[in-house]
Amino acid sequence: MRKWYGVIGDPIEQSLSPLMQEFWFGRAGLDAHYEAFHVTKDNLARAVAGLKALGAGGFNVTVPHKSAIIPFLDETDKDARIIGAVNTVVRADGRLIGYNTDGIGFLKSVETRFPQLCTGKPSALILGAGGAAKAVAVTLAKDMAGRVDVCNRTLAKAAVLSETCGKFCLSEAFGPSEAEKRLRRYDMVINCTSVGLNPDTDAPVIDIGAAKRDTLFADLIYKPFRTALLRRAERMGNPVLNGLPMLICQGAYAFKKWTGFMPDVPGAEKLLQGLFLK
Ligand code: ATR
Repeated sequence: MRKWYGVIGDPIEQSLSPLMQEFWFGRAGLDAHYEAFHVTKDNLARAVAGLKALGAGGFNVTVPHKSAIIPFLDETDKDARIIGAVNTVVRADGRLIGYNTDGIGFLKSVETRFPQLCTGKPSALILGAGGAAKAVAVTLAKDMAGRVDVCNRTLAKAAVLSETCGKFCLSEAFGPSEAEKRLRRYDMVINCTSVGLNPDTDAPVIDIGAAKRDTLFADLIYKPFRTALLRRAERMGNPVLNGLPMLICQGAYAFKKWTGFMPDVPGAEKLLQGLFLK
């Protein structure tokens, strides 16, 4: 029988995952299909039960369900539990198992493009302490960085995330003005807040003028393709990375969980970049 997969979220119309995953299934010659499903918070439990009953091979989970879905799954992988969020669900022997590929997606997208940055335990500053920040901060702390500091408008949330990171590497929490004072300490600064989504009005959450010239500025946002933060960093001559490579890498690791092998990542980059750069 034809296998099928999907993504659940609210809103979901904007999702690039169907285009990307169907491209990969086609390239791999697999007879499989991937569909976007609009699922509201009220319907989450019923939707998960429905996907299970109808035999989905697996599915992705996006905003606002990444944390809320955990109680409805049969099992959650240890790393996803530490992060507190699931973006990929795999069906195995009829059971639904939750994973998080967002953090590894970010880490690999940096490693591929800036390998020199990733040797020797780099230090990272995370802007934000929400769901996206957790995945990136915890994965960096566990698997790459020597220090992961967390800066957030709401300090209490930064402190909680920093405590988790502190189990794996050095970590401190503070607000924006402290972050600006310490900027020279960091090899990479990653915007994981939603600030920047509105290209006309959103200024960066911190002033980055004091950064070293080789500090990488990354933003998880890919629409706009360059946020105000990345435009400013580019003008300063710093390396920059937007959220598109991470989006593609998290999808690639989800595909691998479902099929057992990595898909054509460069092909998907060409396909999706084409949408933004035309
Ligand atoms: P996501 O799951 O996409 O990470 P989220 O969990 O709602 O979304 O987190 C949004 C993040 O953006 C938070 O860190 C939030 O800061 P607070 O914890 O203080 O709310 C941050 N954020 C949103 N709007 C912001 C703004 N105008 N200035 C600074 N930070 C902002």
